[in-house]
Amino acid sequence: MNAQEPILKCPHRIFLYKFLFVAGLFVLSFSTGLPAQTYSQRGMVVSSSKPASEVGVEILRKGGNAIDASIATAFALAVTLPSAGNIGGGGFMVHCNHKGEATSFDFREKAPMRSNARMYLNEEGLLLEGSNHRGLLSIGVPGTVAGLYLAHQKLGKLPWPALVQPAIDLADKGFPMSWTLYMEARHLRSESGPGDFIHHFFEDSSGRLTQPGQLWKQPALANTLTMIRDQGPDGFYKGVVAKKIASFMADHGGLISLEDLGHYTAVERTPVHGTFRDFHIHSMGPPSSGGVALIQMLNMLESVVPDSIPFNSANYVHFMAEMMRRAFADRAKFMGDPDFAEGIPIERLTSKSYARQSLGSFRWDKASLSDSADYIHQPIEGDHTTHLSVVDVSGNAVSLTYTLEDWYGSKIGIEDLGFIFNNEMGDFNPVPGVTRRNGQIGTDPNLIAPGKRMLSSMTPTIVVKNDHPYLVIGSPGGRTIINTVFQAIVSALFFNIPLPQAIGAMKIHHQWLPDEIVFEQHLMSPDTQKALEQKGHRLRPVPNLGSLMGIVVDRQNQVLIGSADASAVDGAAVGY
Ligand code: DON
Repeated sequence: MNAQEPILKCPHRIFLYKFLFVAGLFVLSFSTGLPAQTYSQRGMVVSSSKPASEVGVEILRKGGNAIDASIATAFALAVTLPSAGNIGGGGFMVHCNHKGEATSFDFREKAPMRSNARMYLNEEGLLLEGSNHRGLLSIGVPGTVAGLYLAHQKLGKLPWPALVQPAIDLADKGFPMSWTLYMEARHLRSESGPGDFIHHFFEDSSGRLTQPGQLWKQPALANTLTMIRDQGPDGFYKGVVAKKIASFMADHGGLISLEDLGHYTAVERTPVHGTFRDFHIHSMGPPSSGGVALIQMLNMLESVVPDSIPFNSANYVHFMAEMMRRAFADRAKFMGDPDFAEGIPIERLTSKSYARQSLGSFRWDKASLSDSADYIHQPIEGDHTTHLSVVDVSGNAVSLTYTLEDWYGSKIGIEDLGFIFNNEMGDFNPVPGVTRRNGQIGTDPNLIAPGKRMLSSMTPTIVVKNDHPYLVIGSPGGRTIINTVFQAIVSALFFNIPLPQAIGAMKIHHQWLPDEIVFEQHLMSPDTQKALEQKGHRLRPVPNLGSLMGIVVDRQNQVLIGSADASAVDGAAVGY
């Protein structure tokens, strides 16, 4: 197919039948309370904020490709979704062109040069509780601006300023404050003091909290974005913005210096690749653990699961949890920044033979035990991040997940600059060599070192079918991301469940330690819970897991189907 041709072309009458078919599905999903779905023929953007998805689609309309639209959407999210959308954090982008060829961009934050592996310990070598998650020392050198620029340099089509301008407009002219943002603003105000940046973040020009429906303007952020528009990454990592960041850090006891900012680089990396039956999976490799763990689990599934296993049955949940347990044990043992940790055995971990070996001890009737002499507990991770999926008119796709780590990151910012810094340093292992049940891991691959990237679970993924992008998917959720994306992919590829239902279906999470199955409480029957307990599993209910944003390219029906998880109240799939 010519790259310029629309992916979806069909005679009008056939299209009418197909439209009626998909419209029927839409009505069905709407009436069952599942996430809504959107159809389009030319391009689609799905994100956690409707105004940001609209920005991306506008870029597609203007002839931008999936990279362009994802960059514009990411900048717009930095304005409209400040809990996770960012220029003060970092993340990963996986790109797959219309021929099924993939690459990825790593713009994960880095540890400042003045950081060290013992920086969160007191004189007795004990972790100063929470010190790696809060305050100035929790901030990593931001990567988002450099990463988006690198992707644009390599694969973008429209001029860079055109991709930043819509975000500037949203910040400068304002956009209607949603109820979600308003509730978040009230909460943050009640939790902070008048001296805190976050306390004033949502104020209007008269110093009052912006009300729902009122236009929320962010003039300082508009100025920062203008410098990025005009100077590219130098507008952030050098010059006025960088100087303000460095002097703020120096004045308040932070570590990030002008050199840290000036030396930050994003990297293009080969994505991890696996297969599941006839599908090819492209996902993010280290410093994310997401792609490797995802492929490990898909390999295990392929090697053992009987075709007849009923979806969401006790046996199904048991098997899923046992695969998760094994993949997360390897994550803790092997994963870290590939530029520092030597020899992460990606090929071995993602091989079919390793999957068979991993399941050697698996039994259908009994849960395995995570506990062992050398058990390793996972670090605590925040649970706010955001994912966006894009497909353009030629069938190129982008899957992008980025984060501030916690909800509103460190909640620290500089008034003149108008954006929030991450608290990503908490994703490093905080105490070298000390691994505890209470949430500390001390293994080498993810210890702090100057210039190193902290381990992530973000799992932006693109599934290829018959040499074309087929499913573009990702989610927030800290460590649960890996399992959330895995289960959505299994639902779509193994059970042929339509995308909105796959997104809305019950998710579970097992992360090796603690040894328990976390499950969405309203979606697992008491009988299933009982059967799992009889196999020896401990269960813990939670209200929700993940917030998937996905697109299916349905070439047979010649339609793009996009869906945003219902948990993202302001989210939307927007097509054209
Ligand atoms: O990189 C990571 O894995 C975490 N810092 C992501 C945090 C996260 O997903 C929060 N999401 N809701």
